[in-house]
Amino acid sequence: MPHDETVLYELRERAAWITVHRPDKLNALDRETVGRIAAAVDRGLDDPGAVALVLTGAGERAFVAGADIGEMAALRADEAQRYSRFLQQAFDGIERAPKPVIAAVNGFALGGGCELALACHLRFAADSARFGQPEVNLGLVPGAGGTQRLARVVGRGRALELILGGAAIDAAEALRIGLVNRVVPAGDLEREVTAFVTALAGKAPLALARALEAVVSGAETSQDEAMRLEAALFGLCFATEDMREGTRAFLDKRKPTFSGR
Ligand code: COA
Repeated sequence: MPHDETVLYELRERAAWITVHRPDKLNALDRETVGRIAAAVDRGLDDPGAVALVLTGAGERAFVAGADIGEMAALRADEAQRYSRFLQQAFDGIERAPKPVIAAVNGFALGGGCELALACHLRFAADSARFGQPEVNLGLVPGAGGTQRLARVVGRGRALELILGGAAIDAAEALRIGLVNRVVPAGDLEREVTAFVTALAGKAPLALARALEAVVSGAETSQDEAMRLEAALFGLCFATEDMREGTRAFLDKRKPTFSGR
């Protein structure tokens, strides 16, 4: 695992751990690092050993403290618009991933860091984590999907409170408003995530992928369209060996063994 890299990749107990590694900058995201995260996500999706991907930050202080303000400060308006589209597309790739992606939020998740966590399917947080969209303090707005994803996750009122107020909230408040799924003592975060991924390893992978697609793609369209998508994905499950195995195992009163086919 080369430590001069700004993104580390390691397969641990069925999870592809993707660690943003710029500890001297509180893991702030420069353009190169975002590209490396996207590449690591692709690697995790192709890795037959990984049932899920986990995104986290190096060190004990930060998940990701935002987009790199030094890099952003010099952008012209047209460059900034392209930069925003670049971030959005990289984070869209995470949200549309056919394997579950979990953010293990181990400290500051601010600006682009909060947006990165929001692009993940689940967010598990250390009790030391802090979340916020502080862009207005810099004369900006969130530009990596935050104006849309935050509102979808916590509701428009709470999203606007965070985006307009620009103040960070602690993990307990993030749990209260539904921004995170779980909060655990910082020392237990990896164990908690690993236990969840171990449970996922016992499920049918194609069912997980189709459940993700139904929920994520379904949210992009009308309820009627989304119901049709759900029915199509439900139907596709019946063409898998795993569905036959899962239902047969239930009827036989035994545990299923899924093959991923
Ligand atoms: N972009 C670039 N560098 C960043 C950064 C960011 N988003 N966040 C932190 N850093 C750098 C600091 O510049 C500092 O670097 P230096 O040692 O070379 O000066 C280093 O990380 C440590 O940060 P520091 O501010 O000294 O730590 P702190 O404990 O005093 O404060 C924060 C922590 C998170 C409150 C503070 O760093 C902060 O407000 N960061 C910016 C958050 C933000 O606005 N993000 C959204 C960007 S759109």
